[in-house]
Amino acid sequence: MAVITGAGNDGIGWGLCCHAAGKLGMHVVAIDLHESLVHSAQERLRQQCPQVESFGLVCDVTKPDDLAKCVDNIQSLLPGKTIGAVFANAGVMFSRTVLKSKPEEWAATLNVNILGVVNTIQAFVPILQSQAFNSIFSATASVGGLVRGDHGGASYQASKHAVVAICESLSFELARKSPHISIHVLCPCIVSSGLHRSSAVNQKVSEGKLAAGEVVSAGGGDFALAMTPDRHAEQVFDHIADGNFYMITDNIRPYVDHDKPFNGLEIIKERYDNMMHSHSTTATPLTRSLVGQPRQL
Ligand SMILES: NC(=O)c1ccc[n+]([C@@H]2O[C@H](COP(=O)([O-])OP(=O)(O)OC[C@H]3O[C@@H](n4cnc5c(N)ncnc54)[C@H](O)[C@@H]3O)[C@@H](O)[C@H]2O)c1
Repeated sequence: MAVITGAGNDGIGWGLCCHAAGKLGMHVVAIDLHESLVHSAQERLRQQCPQVESFGLVCDVTKPDDLAKCVDNIQSLLPGKTIGAVFANAGVMFSRTVLKSKPEEWAATLNVNILGVVNTIQAFVPILQSQAFNSIFSATASVGGLVRGDHGGASYQASKHAVVAICESLSFELARKSPHISIHVLCPCIVSSGLHRSSAVNQKVSEGKLAAGEVVSAGGGDFALAMTPDRHAEQVFDHIADGNFYMITDNIRPYVDHDKPFNGLEIIKERYDNMMHSHSTTATPLTRSLVGQPRQL
């Protein structure tokens, strides 16, 4: 069975559900915030993949009690079935600079993207530890969690750097104790999704400006060079099969039909090269000798 959070829209989580159910024949539990989203995911999965059992469960990953209920529900809906894969994939994104970002958007970003991952680990990893079978746990960070922060996604990139660090720590914690669990951190480049829209909608619901019952799927993205969620999922499971801890899913063939890769690895390398050689690529570098000197106006 595969358990996937943030699977109720049409993005990465949905692609993972379809791949797990349709290509790998796994039972699937799709988790998301709102009843309308998980009900639709459950119905679509049951239609597309009648050979497996599919369920949609409502759960707010920022709430440990919700996750505990989810675990109980899974055990009663699919009794005796083992969990082979957990994807802590729920996330939000607000594109604002550090100076112009809003405290409530920072709070939502850190709560969902960081604490949501920690809560999902704490709810599901003990189950994986208790099983006599091999399994995987993956948390979705971003290539933004491995590269230098840039203009416009301050809270998002900060949160994704944290997800990478959490997964690195978890992999050390479990390496000796539970070698039958393989930990992965998923760092996608560009995947077609409605992340901006789903984040804005969820924020409106949490602020009481929209009723949860009115939420519908945010749909996919319209960036032509992006990977589709199903091709992206293929790349994820290829990384898992290869045992890669850092699953950097780049926009490369055969997962896209064009030759304009995002080149995630090159951007990551640039950051580390800059660190290793103490280079700064800031447009106006603040060197030690400038500190405390009068500003030039
Ligand atoms: N699309 C990309 O290019 C891209 C790139 C790098 C990383 N990511 C990451 O991939 C993950 C999936 O995003 P996506 O782009 O597929 O968009 P998406 O909108 O399809 O997925 C995000 C999902 O998380 C759900 N969610 C938000 N808060 C939640 C909460 N508290 N509890 C439960 N569910 C919650 C949303 O309702 C939504 O369904 C996110 O973590 C995102 O940061 C996406």
